[in-house]
Amino acid sequence: MKLFIDTAIVDEIREVNDMGVICGVTTNPSLIAKSGRKFEDVVKEITTIVDGPISAEVTAKDPDEMVEQAKPLAALHKNIIIKIPFNKEGLIACKKMTALGIKTNVTLIFSAAQALLAAKAGATYVSPFLGRLDDIGTDGMNLIEEIVDVFDADPAIETEIIAASVRNPIHVIQAARLGCDIATVPYKVIMQMLNHPLTVNGIAQFDKDWATVPKD
Ligand code: E4P
Repeated sequence: MKLFIDTAIVDEIREVNDMGVICGVTTNPSLIAKSGRKFEDVVKEITTIVDGPISAEVTAKDPDEMVEQAKPLAALHKNIIIKIPFNKEGLIACKKMTALGIKTNVTLIFSAAQALLAAKAGATYVSPFLGRLDDIGTDGMNLIEEIVDVFDADPAIETEIIAASVRNPIHVIQAARLGCDIATVPYKVIMQMLNHPLTVNGIAQFDKDWATVPKD
């Protein structure tokens, strides 16, 4: 399973990219707002950091307007993926963008039925939001499992699944075990994935013992 980072903070992206663990970035309007910067400026800067798919979301409501909003974004860099919120208009826009050779990530997916429709409309990626389902007392991981099964059962589907709205390292590992293609992971969760107290204690013990080894 590939790992993307889910943030629009370029310092976080740079730090995690330097660790060699991510190969893509997802943003959304809320994450862009949190960065406090202009949308195009952030997206352009991200393309200079990560050489992989970078999702930038359109906000127009009409399919043709979504396509017009997508064109200059897609022209910024070959790695830009246009994120489209799931609904009927989004599917129409997805079909149109696919015909124009623009790659898409259909987002805000909360059912396998929605994921299947997005795949049929030509989506390059679908983003099921597992954490937001957990938040309302539903098992978000069931959704990931269902979509993996549905896509695996249809060899014509090439759409990749991005496990999104990831809240903790367990989400990442469970998604990987289910055969999900990608997890997009917030910076905080990537930092949590680094940690194990036995690793910290182990390094401290090695350092302590090494200090007692005769050096000459
Ligand atoms: C993914 O593409 C979304 O930007 C993101 O995962 C949403 O996560 P949230 O539910 O934590 O806002």
